[in-house]
Amino acid sequence: MEIKEKKSSQELMALEDKYGAHNYHPLPVVLERGEGVHVWDVEGKKYYDFLSAYSAVNQGHCHPKIIKALTDQAENLTLTSRAFYNNVLGEYEKYITELFGYDKVLPMNTGVEGGETALKLCRKWAYKVKGIEENKAKILFAENNFWGRTLAAVSSSTDPSAYSDYGPYLPGFEIVKYNDLESLEKALEDPNVAGFMVEPIQGEAGVVVPDDNYLKSAYELCKKKNVLFIADEVQTGISRTGKLFCCQHYDFKPDILILGKALSGGVFPVSAALANDEIMMTIKPGEHGSTFGGNPLACKVAMAALKVAVDENLAENAERLGKIFRAELAEFAKGENLVTLVRGKGLLNAIVINDTEDSSTAWDICMKLRDNGLLAKPTHGNIIRFAPPLVMNEEQLRECIDIIKKTISSF
Ligand SMILES: Cc1ncc(COP(=O)(O)O)c(C=O)c1O
Repeated sequence: MEIKEKKSSQELMALEDKYGAHNYHPLPVVLERGEGVHVWDVEGKKYYDFLSAYSAVNQGHCHPKIIKALTDQAENLTLTSRAFYNNVLGEYEKYITELFGYDKVLPMNTGVEGGETALKLCRKWAYKVKGIEENKAKILFAENNFWGRTLAAVSSSTDPSAYSDYGPYLPGFEIVKYNDLESLEKALEDPNVAGFMVEPIQGEAGVVVPDDNYLKSAYELCKKKNVLFIADEVQTGISRTGKLFCCQHYDFKPDILILGKALSGGVFPVSAALANDEIMMTIKPGEHGSTFGGNPLACKVAMAALKVAVDENLAENAERLGKIFRAELAEFAKGENLVTLVRGKGLLNAIVINDTEDSSTAWDICMKLRDNGLLAKPTHGNIIRFAPPLVMNEEQLRECIDIIKKTISSF
């Protein structure tokens, strides 16, 4: 019998370094197993996951109901493409549209494809319904947005590390200031503006929460000018911020809602754009799609993932634990000059480290957190995002808060 020697973390990292593109800078920890709020590295060390794969694993690692949906369906039918009907897609479409309150859904795979779909829908609507002259439609984005890595996404980015050396860029995109209604109102004076795409909370920018009145007022300004409000809820959606989707906090429904990440519970890429018929029916057969979008495996997994979010009251749990988390850390920050700010909503939170963006303090803190059994990652140098799976309980959260406090105090 062949005995395979298990590779160490060092060996596995060296393998990636040698054969993989260097387009990421991971924290040095090599994971091989996950269950609920925990992950284990190849040496067997257990950690609390405080990133949840950028909020894709809201339902916890390897949730048994989602994995069962995956394996059951995998034995029957995985992919037909949309050349044929399959027996699961319609059931999924009914379920997700009723849950979120839209006429229709367009299923895709990655989050960025959800965004691309929303923008294509917006442009079609601009020409077919709003009556903007061909090729003149403009879409507004907020400064410091992040919605992925395609050429359209980097064309609307204000982050040089995302867009540099990838030009020429896609035209028809304009930037407004985030959390600034005046800036939006001014841009909306242009009659060729068709849409405004925005994250309700800017995730990659460092969990930037806008003023309470911003999103609803921005939506109303858009409505006054017959402009589509497109909510990128790829990171904030599926219960992360304490509601099924974040705009629900502010009591309005975006014209186009983009979901991804936790729509599959982190099992594999499943995304969606949701909209009503006036918008969705502008796209005709053959005008947009994807081989894997709407595949039966994804549909079963997404239905299971959404059911878990609803049945296990993940939004309520995120809301309750988030309040404890922010209150505890804000109190701690008062007696601590390393942490200048604690912010977030639900279980999407961040602390700002009292240092410049190019300092290594936040990274060093994350390395120490790792040693102490908790995994988190800096964003923008001096901000640390804390986003555990939403299946966490209060006792676990309090243990994690202790780890975070002790770790920061040791600096
Ligand atoms: C708000 C937001 N939109 C879109 C995306 C892109 O998702 P994906 O990486 O699955 O393409 C991300 C990824 O981090 C995101 O945070």
